[in-house]
Amino acid sequence: METIQLNSGRKLDSIGLGLWKIENEKTSSVVRTAIQMGYRHFDSACDYGNEIEAGQGIAEAIAGGDVCREDLWITSKLWNTYHRPEHVRAALLKSLKDLQLDYLDLYLIHFPISSRFVPFEERYPPGWFSNPDDANPKVIEDPVPIIETWRAMEQLVDEGLVKEIGVCNFGTSLLRDLMSQATIPPAMLQVEMHPYLTQDKLLRYCKESGIAVTAFSPLGAQSYYQLQMADSSESLLEHDLISSIAQQHNKSPAQILLRWGIQRGTAVVPKSSNEDRLRENLDLFNFNLSQDEMDGINDLNRNRRFNDPGDFCESAFNTFFPIYE
Ligand code: A2P
Repeated sequence: METIQLNSGRKLDSIGLGLWKIENEKTSSVVRTAIQMGYRHFDSACDYGNEIEAGQGIAEAIAGGDVCREDLWITSKLWNTYHRPEHVRAALLKSLKDLQLDYLDLYLIHFPISSRFVPFEERYPPGWFSNPDDANPKVIEDPVPIIETWRAMEQLVDEGLVKEIGVCNFGTSLLRDLMSQATIPPAMLQVEMHPYLTQDKLLRYCKESGIAVTAFSPLGAQSYYQLQMADSSESLLEHDLISSIAQQHNKSPAQILLRWGIQRGTAVVPKSSNEDRLRENLDLFNFNLSQDEMDGINDLNRNRRFNDPGDFCESAFNTFFPIYE
C-alpha cells in the first residue's frame, strides 16, 4: 500500500473506500468486508446518510479483532447547514456518535456553501433543500465567512476530537484566502479529479502549498449515470486509450484510472459495494504507468466536471448556485 504524507507528517493510504451512495442496508457489511480485504481509509460524510451503518461496520470489525481503531483512517465532512461556528462542534459530535468513534482522522468542510441551519432533531441529514415541505423548495443561503467556520474546525483539533482538518470543492482563490488567515493550514483538499478533469494547476498549487489532495469520482462518469448527470458516451472505463493501456498491463480500465490518480500523488476514494470491484480497486500496487502513459492519460482532459452545484442545484434543487465560476 502506498501512502500520502500530510503537512503534519501523518500518513494515510492512497486508496480509500468512498461511502457516498452505498445503500444503507449494505453499508455495514461493505465496510466490514472492505476492512477484512485490507481497506483502512474510509471516506464518509454526514450528507451520505449512512454514517450509522458505517459505524456499525467499523465497530464490528474492531470488536471482531479485524483491526484496531488506530490503524483506520476515517474522514467525515461538515455539511453546508452547519457552517455557523456554533454548529460545527455539534455536527462533528453527531458524526462521531453515528460512526461510534471518539475522534476523526480528518474532518473536511464539504462545500464552500453555507445554507440555512436545520436543527438536528428536525431533519438529519438535512440534505440540500432548506424547506423540503414547501411548494417551491430551495437551497436558502446563509452566508458565513469561511474563516469563521475554519476557526471552529481548528478548535476541534485543539480539543483532540479530530486529528486533521481540510476542505472540499475549493479552488485556488479560496484556498489562498483561507491559508492567509488559518492558524492550522488545511491538510487536505478533496475535489473531483479524473482524466476528463485533471485540474493540473489546482494540483500543482496544492503540492507547492503543502496541501494533500484526494480525488473523488476517480473513475469519472461512472457514478453519475444513475443520477442522470453523465451520458454513457462520457465513459472513461470504455475509452480506447484506457482500454489499451489496461490490456498492456493486464489490468482493468478502472485500475488504470486509479493508478493514474495515485501516481499523480493524490489519494483516490472510489466507491464500490461489489466485492470483486472492492478487491480490484485495492490491487494497484504491483505495476507502474510509464511517463508516456501518464502524459497520454493527462491529455484526455476536457475540463468536464460531473459534480457541479452550478448545474445540479438548479436541476435538482430549484436553486442557481454556482461556486466554481
Ligand atoms: P459499484 O458499487 O457497483 O461497484 P464514485 O465515482 O462515487 O467513486 O463511484 C464509483 C462508481 O463506479 C460506482 O458506480 C461503482 O459501482 C463503480 N465502480 C467501482 N469500482 C469499479 C470498477 N473497478 N470497475 C467498474 N466500476 C466500478
